[in-house]
Amino acid sequence: MMLHGTMTINSRGHLEIGGCDTVQLASTFGTPLYVVDEELFRQNCREYYRAFTEKYGAEVIYAAKTLLTLAICRLVEEEGLGMDVVSGGELYTALQAKFPMSRVYFHGNNKSREELRLALEARVGRFVVDNLYELEMLNQLAGEMHSRADVILRLTPGVEAHTHEYIKTGQIDSKFGLVIENGQALSGVKLALEMDHIALHGLHCHIGSQIFKLDSYAHAAGVMMDFAARVARETGWVPSELDLGGGLGIYYAEGDQPRPVAEYADVIMRAVREKAMTHGLPVPRVIVEPGRSISGPAGTTLYTVGAVKDIPGVRKYVAVDGGMGDNPRPALYQSRYEACVANKAAAPAEEVVSIAGKCCESGDMLIWDIALPRVEPGDILAVSCTGAYNYSMSMNYNRLPRPAMVLVKDGRADIIVERETYADLLRNDVIPERLRKSRRLNVASAR
Ligand code: LLP
Repeated sequence: MMLHGTMTINSRGHLEIGGCDTVQLASTFGTPLYVVDEELFRQNCREYYRAFTEKYGAEVIYAAKTLLTLAICRLVEEEGLGMDVVSGGELYTALQAKFPMSRVYFHGNNKSREELRLALEARVGRFVVDNLYELEMLNQLAGEMHSRADVILRLTPGVEAHTHEYIKTGQIDSKFGLVIENGQALSGVKLALEMDHIALHGLHCHIGSQIFKLDSYAHAAGVMMDFAARVARETGWVPSELDLGGGLGIYYAEGDQPRPVAEYADVIMRAVREKAMTHGLPVPRVIVEPGRSISGPAGTTLYTVGAVKDIPGVRKYVAVDGGMGDNPRPALYQSRYEACVANKAAAPAEEVVSIAGKCCESGDMLIWDIALPRVEPGDILAVSCTGAYNYSMSMNYNRLPRPAMVLVKDGRADIIVERETYADLLRNDVIPERLRKSRRLNVASAR
């Protein structure tokens, strides 16, 4: 397993993160356990801040969908980034954490009236409007509230990113955004400009996630700037903001070759500036929305090994006490992960095994064919790069409680999400009166 951030192997041969022995973490907090390396999370924020904000005056907004808790909001705020939220729930979290609302961008392809009202009341910095239905509703609501919504319009640039089918978003056949090619984007801009309670500031696109090819970004930036030039010619309105979304890929396993953030910034900014010059337009304020590349490598999940089942000549299954409930990505996207045995982190690999989860699904496999030291029940398995789209996509399938999360730094470990209890699982369950009665009746008639 590649070591990320503050990971080291200590003198006891244990994996350490943020100065904390992970075997100790597992025994103190139980497993499965999400561990977030505060230093690495902050470093990743800073890398973006330096590459985009300090160098180019661009704005970096953290994509909250990858990992969001109250404590995470604090880290993002302290590092000077904004935040991209996509639902009332994410917005509510940011509000409760007292995150500065002027730095919040509200995304989503089907925001409800209630969500829009909440965001208007909270005075979020920008609405990233996805479609005309939303635009009309927002204009009307803002009017009713004697307010004005600051908007950027999400467009579909028709750029195909080289990534998994389910996480591509920039192609024309997409549920997101107004299509440039067929004129919908231009009509959307014209409509927004005519509206009394909409202040249109700019344009947005997002071409996909886990992207390694930077030229996809340069291409998208070019398409957006060409569109800006066309809009300027036809309407006289010049977009002052250009949001190019997120998506920079990270290292999960061998073969992944992420590009440095600084290079990503240079490629994007060069493309935008060149196009601005070509079209005689002012250079817009650029916004980027990284998520995975900030939170992903900062997360590690610890599991306890249970049943080890060898099928001679076929495969050795090593089952852990979590799985698709806390990390649905392998089942959803065939994502690959690396792992190590945290209590034998310095030991050489001895066997090839496959890591299974504990859900009632054959597809609940975390890692196929990984070389590890001999794995035994009770060992602690650490799966790396689980910071993004793990906790945020976790579920209670099979009524497995969600894991706890700890933030580690300089030998300290603080709980930032409590472990769910069985009682939490029942929190919203209700037995209607009629069933309570009928149960008594059934019992009576059975006697
Ligand atoms: N901005 C927008 C508009 C997005 O839709 C996304 C991700 C981001 C920013 C952040 O992208 P990132 O930097 O994290 O790649 N659940 C999938 C990924 C879905 C991506 C959703 N949108 C996965 O686990 O791979």
